[in-house]
Amino acid sequence: MLLSWPGGRIFTLFSCTFFATLVNAALVNVTIDDTFGNTQENLQIIYQPPGAWSPGQSCTNCEAHLDATQIYNGTWHDTTYLSDNPPSSPLSASLTFDGVAIYVYCIVTQSSTDPFGNSDMTFYLDGVEVGNFTLPPDGDSTYHYNFPVYVNESIPSGKHSFMLVNGRAGGQTALALLDSIVFS
Ligand SMILES: *[C@@H]1O[C@H](CO)[C@@H](O)[C@H](O)[C@H]1NC(C)=O
Ligand SMILES: *[C@@H]1O[C@H](CO)[C@@H](O)[C@H](O)[C@H]1NC(C)=O
Ligand SMILES: *[C@@H]1O[C@H](CO)[C@@H](O)[C@H](O)[C@H]1NC(C)=O
Ligand SMILES: *[C@@H]1O[C@H](CO)[C@@H](O)[C@H](O)[C@H]1NC(C)=O
Repeated sequence: MLLSWPGGRIFTLFSCTFFATLVNAALVNVTIDDTFGNTQENLQIIYQPPGAWSPGQSCTNCEAHLDATQIYNGTWHDTTYLSDNPPSSPLSASLTFDGVAIYVYCIVTQSSTDPFGNSDMTFYLDGVEVGNFTLPPDGDSTYHYNFPVYVNESIPSGKHSFMLVNGRAGGQTALALLDSIVFS
């Protein structure tokens, strides 16, 4: 009865289009550049403590010299946890996002010198430790680009805080080269 009413068909068509739009909106990936953030979403990665992370592409005393063409928007952030001079507060990169999945992309290397490519990162969601990524140096100085150091596709929908911490108290010297964070 309702469907035989011409307006009903239009309504049904409209509903389907609207529903499809909602489903697509729920599945969109948003990329946050390490440096430029995401201007549409007005999101930025926050680095702590101040000055402890360097913009890698313009850093003259950083040991990692990377191929900017393989890096999202040509920019990355570089920090080193020094075991013989540990920072007084954690070397962190944080992002607040509204989503159900997160993908954290770094550049990793197992180089033994210049830089000392030891990876030792710990990840937190809403203040709770949810994972880590460790990869010791083995002398292979290859850089691996777009390397997902942390992936979580089972986050309850809503607003969340994510934090990456480089190095650990009592741990070895550790390098982090952050390229971008994607969330869905
Ligand atoms: C988002 O990106 C990840 C990998 O970068 C991919 O596995 C996933 O399917 C993407 N999701 C959507 C909705 O495009
Ligand atoms: C990419 O970099 C340019 C500057 O080189 C900047 O203006 C732009 O906002 C960046 N885009 C993204 C998506 O980060
Ligand atoms: C890293 O995470 C695993 C679980 O995925 C845990 O068993 C391990 O203790 C963690 N390692 C460190 C050094 O925190
Ligand atoms: C993903 O996030 C949820 C919610 O914070 C957490 O319970 C779960 O352990 C995380 N899974 C992974 C693989 O990190």
